Amino acid sequence: MKKFLIAGNWKMNKLSHEAIQFADALLKSDLPNKNELLILAPFTDLFSLKSKLENSEISYGAQNVHFEKKGAFTGEISASMLKETGSNYCIVGHSERRQYFNETDDTVNLKLKALLSEDIIPILCVGEPLDVRNSNSEQTFVASQLIRDFEGISIEDVSKIVIAYEPIWAIGTGKTATPAQAQEMCAFIRGVIGGMYSNEVADNILILYGGSMNQNNAEDLLKNVDINGGLIGGASLETESFIKIAECANKIKTL
Ligand code: PGA
Repeated sequence: MKKFLIAGNWKMNKLSHEAIQFADALLKSDLPNKNELLILAPFTDLFSLKSKLENSEISYGAQNVHFEKKGAFTGEISASMLKETGSNYCIVGHSERRQYFNETDDTVNLKLKALLSEDIIPILCVGEPLDVRNSNSEQTFVASQLIRDFEGISIEDVSKIVIAYEPIWAIGTGKTATPAQAQEMCAFIRGVIGGMYSNEVADNILILYGGSMNQNNAEDLLKNVDINGGLIGGASLETESFIKIAECANKIKTL
């Protein structure tokens, strides 16, 4: 049976007490697939989430990490610091970080390695801007991101990574990729991983779609064979819509 990962990316939203309320609502829900839920929260919410979710099926994690182990990097957070918060996951290379905080494939690569060394599962974001899509070069663009982001990462380690395909033109715009576009790129990504590593790794790696996923389009996106879940921004801020997306994943499994 297909296993999903339904990941909420809260971005710079939610104070600690709001994070706790949200976690409580998820815990109280009667979702049968709570083990497929993941919240990616601001750093300041992580210990609050730990207090609620540590011994539950629901996972939580961070949205960024610094690649150095420690030192004079004012304002940064290391992978071992994240480990202490109980985080099991961390986003790397989100397009907002690439765009506004000068994240490059080189720093993404170092961040992946830093997280893997602490046994934190990276969620690597890749995806093309609109002009690249309009010139039909999105596959070349994404393949080049993958090759550079995975430089020097072993076959054992790559199988621990989750990939999120997030076309930049679909993020926060309400303009979702069509299910066919999302499936096509997720299948392409799987093929690139197969070529770089092995078919077995490619078959097992989780590939999420992200970009204006919501309760109305989730089912059509998630039922595609190469889409193993969603990285959800706006629609993860309300428990109701987040739970509805998780229900879509559950429904697909029982079809
Ligand atoms: P969105 O964000 O669902 O609000 O488009 C997705 C993301 O940026 O991960």
